[in-house]
Amino acid sequence: MELVCVSCQQRYDADSLRTRCDCGGLLDLILPESGAVDVSVYNTRLRAWRGPDSSGVWRYREFLPAFDEQQIVSRPEGNTNLYHAPEIARDVGVAELWLKHEGENPTGSFKDRGMTVATSHAVKVGATMVACASTGNTSASVASYAAFAGLPAVVFVPDGKISAAKLGQTVAYGARIIQIRGDFDAAMRLVQDASRELGIYLLNSINPYRIEGQKTILIELLHQLDWTIPDWIVLPGGNLGNTAAIGKALAELRDRNAINKSPRVAVIQAEGASPFYEAFRSSFRSFEPMDADTVASAIRIGNPVSYEKARRTIERTDGVVEAVTDTEIMDAKALIDRSGIGCEPASAATLAGLRKLVRTGVISPAARVAGILTGHVMKDAEAVMTYHLGNGTSPGRFANQPVVIDPEMSQLREVLQR
Ligand code: F0G
Repeated sequence: MELVCVSCQQRYDADSLRTRCDCGGLLDLILPESGAVDVSVYNTRLRAWRGPDSSGVWRYREFLPAFDEQQIVSRPEGNTNLYHAPEIARDVGVAELWLKHEGENPTGSFKDRGMTVATSHAVKVGATMVACASTGNTSASVASYAAFAGLPAVVFVPDGKISAAKLGQTVAYGARIIQIRGDFDAAMRLVQDASRELGIYLLNSINPYRIEGQKTILIELLHQLDWTIPDWIVLPGGNLGNTAAIGKALAELRDRNAINKSPRVAVIQAEGASPFYEAFRSSFRSFEPMDADTVASAIRIGNPVSYEKARRTIERTDGVVEAVTDTEIMDAKALIDRSGIGCEPASAATLAGLRKLVRTGVISPAARVAGILTGHVMKDAEAVMTYHLGNGTSPGRFANQPVVIDPEMSQLREVLQR
């Protein structure tokens, strides 16, 4: 097992704590050569109530770095539902739609899948402290997994720019919280310097072990579809770790004969935080970081760390990148929420982007699509209430406004008859 630079192919020891090559490039973890994987073993492992087989990450360990069982820090994670959503499919105009709800992970977002692997690695190499920069979900996940591992955690978040639920979770799990006067991108720069200079183990998705765990979003999804391949995988893009992970998973699944064709990948950004979309529009000839702003605070990121790896995913899967407005995101969220599934704003970029890609003819009405919902509906109550109540602005198109009455039957009758 080795780390290999995606830009210059320089190799490093798999346990070296560097997160970048000397040339500045990102590092990939290359697993040892091994043959075809018989995916039927995963059905057998589904019976487990405890141990690695009960985790929707470690169950798929043929695609993960190896650890001794006592090094593994697991809650366990994964095992998230794949919802068949025929009504939403009809509404956006595709033949089939499944929504994989990564908000059903232990801390409410997909981050837990990467965190179990990277925290296990931190334990393996004897880390004494772990850190991350975050728009809120990574910090909640880091705080929880560090607590499980008995490691102190320090998280860097943009002051006033993350939801109360995410900050509250991180406080509750006991991490040290540093609020940065600046945006996520500034916090990300600082945590990389801090990790290098202070020897703190970095748990952001620039850490290749994070990407390894997040590959299992796709692997578990295909397992749930009995290894039939959808035409498209649609997901939101912020720091682009997930986009990198999906591409790496697809390449490895094909290399090991678990699948014989690839879905196309569509990454959706918010218009106000869309440097990857702009790069895609230039056929990746140029990449310009931007000052990011969007209601979807999880993806309010202007200088995505995993850009090079994410670009590779789009190029290798004949993928696309789309951008959607905040209104499109919040209307899509209202639809997912009303269906009973629910998700946080960033996750709804998936559906807003799918709708736009169908409208513009990129995704055909005959397509079978799997969308990834990245975070739980309870992650951002402020965004929900602003959309439905207005709170000084006009309420959203699908607003569901609570009514206040006196405890009188007459008033109740009147309201229910409206
Ligand atoms: N959706 C949610 C709910 C997220 O929290 C994030 C990223 C993304 C999508 C974007 O994923 O970065 O892999 O492209 N949140 C990070 C955080 C940055 O700090 O919690 P990505």
